Amino acid sequence: MHDRTATQPAATTTEPEEPRTPGFSDAFIAFIPQQWAPYPGLPPRLPAADHTQQRRDAVSAAFPGERIVVPAGGLAVRSNDTDFRFRAHSAFAHLTGLGADREPDAVLVLEPIFDGEPDDAASATGHTATLYFKPRAPRTDREFYADHRYGEMWVGQRDSLDEMTARTGLACRSIDQLRWALNADADRVGMRVLREADAEVTGLVDRVRRAAGAVDAAALAASDHELEVMVSELRLVKDVFELAEMQRACDATAVGFAAVASDLPTAVAKGRGERWCEGVFALHARHQGNDVGYGSICASGDHANTLHWIRNDGDLHEGDLILLDMGVELDSLYTADVTRTLPVSGRFTEPQRRVYDAVLAAQTAGIAAARAGATFHEVHDAAIRVIAEHLHAWGLLPVSVEESLDPRRGGQHRRWMVHGTSHHLGIDVHDCAHARNESYRLGTLRPGMCITVEPGLYFKATDLLVPEELRGIGVRIEDDLVITDGDPVNLSAALPREADAVEAWMAGLR
Ligand code: GLY
Ligand code: MN
Ligand code: MN
Repeated sequence: MHDRTATQPAATTTEPEEPRTPGFSDAFIAFIPQQWAPYPGLPPRLPAADHTQQRRDAVSAAFPGERIVVPAGGLAVRSNDTDFRFRAHSAFAHLTGLGADREPDAVLVLEPIFDGEPDDAASATGHTATLYFKPRAPRTDREFYADHRYGEMWVGQRDSLDEMTARTGLACRSIDQLRWALNADADRVGMRVLREADAEVTGLVDRVRRAAGAVDAAALAASDHELEVMVSELRLVKDVFELAEMQRACDATAVGFAAVASDLPTAVAKGRGERWCEGVFALHARHQGNDVGYGSICASGDHANTLHWIRNDGDLHEGDLILLDMGVELDSLYTADVTRTLPVSGRFTEPQRRVYDAVLAAQTAGIAAARAGATFHEVHDAAIRVIAEHLHAWGLLPVSVEESLDPRRGGQHRRWMVHGTSHHLGIDVHDCAHARNESYRLGTLRPGMCITVEPGLYFKATDLLVPEELRGIGVRIEDDLVITDGDPVNLSAALPREADAVEAWMAGLR
């Protein structure tokens, strides 16, 4: 990649030289398209593609007679001419089935179908879905060799329109036609865009709507927000494909955890052992899936008491705990989110085990509450009560358990567990984040929902209210559950939870 300047400037060039890239000579331009094998046949259909129609149908039913615009988003610059690895907006991935690396600058448009006239919403009869994207240019095109963002020589072979259709089952058109498609009947057809996905597409939609006479920006933003909420809530209940992917993500995560746990002696010996753990897990995440689903938290000793410790630059010490919060994201973008707190030496000390067992009891209570028909927040209520009871029994709470659990006048227990117990999990680690409060925190758990249960206790080294033997101990245990008609299924059950089982597992790995 850094070799773009290696070629010496040619004697005759057809275009101006750039600072780091010589122009291309006429001889090169004549030579480069010659003698390439034809492109292979159509690619296989994505497994997700058998499920995306049903998801798009739900969006169609929610917004009859309106044009719905769901961009993937563009490449994000890391620095200068290098980009971050591409990751599409989660709603785009969900509605198209496209996963890792696909498809920068693409836009899914659901175009309403009418029996009557386009301004007669009552005659709307569903939508047709079209994926607009930048198809691969022929090898005669400058893009092939000169475009470092899209060119085949730079980023590999990209799809033609037909190939993308074979992959996704979607009708496909060139992104060059998007402007035309959005302008068509713009004065008669309502239009919503997923605003946060791509600022350029959002700007284009706003200009088209303004030109068509829609000038109330606040009303348009509100109607766009309804789309954002809808596509977020659409992911609250996972379909069979998604649940299978969540299980695969958890299985891959368990492999990564085992690799880290078995490498702890090396991590201790090398120094900066937190980084070593992060790197070992990342190796497995990239090998088995697309990436880690979020920045891994590898927090030893007192670092475990920093909830989002992702700097991971600490040493590991025998006798300390290490809190590992890590998840593999598959190529389909579904991610696990699992935490285990392990004794670096393989054996818990007595105070560590005391804290660990309290968190385990809280998690067990949370898991027991995770049943269809319960309210989402009841999982937290069950877990946090156990946390508060332990804190009270240990003499740490300045008030009764009931007073502390009273949200209006209490909350003292939160000093030692300030976060919630659960969140929805899926394509995003914090999935369905735009769902309404009444569908999420106050919503009812339904079969097919996938949530974490992850209580913790965090005793900072600087916490003078805590007995000295507990200071610097931080414990969280996190599993990924599927809600069913009966007991929840623990997708991450391959990793041990009980302290004895953790010790036995670690001994077996060494
Ligand atoms: N790893 C982030 C979380 O547990 O929510
Ligand atoms: Mn986590
Ligand atoms: Mn989590």
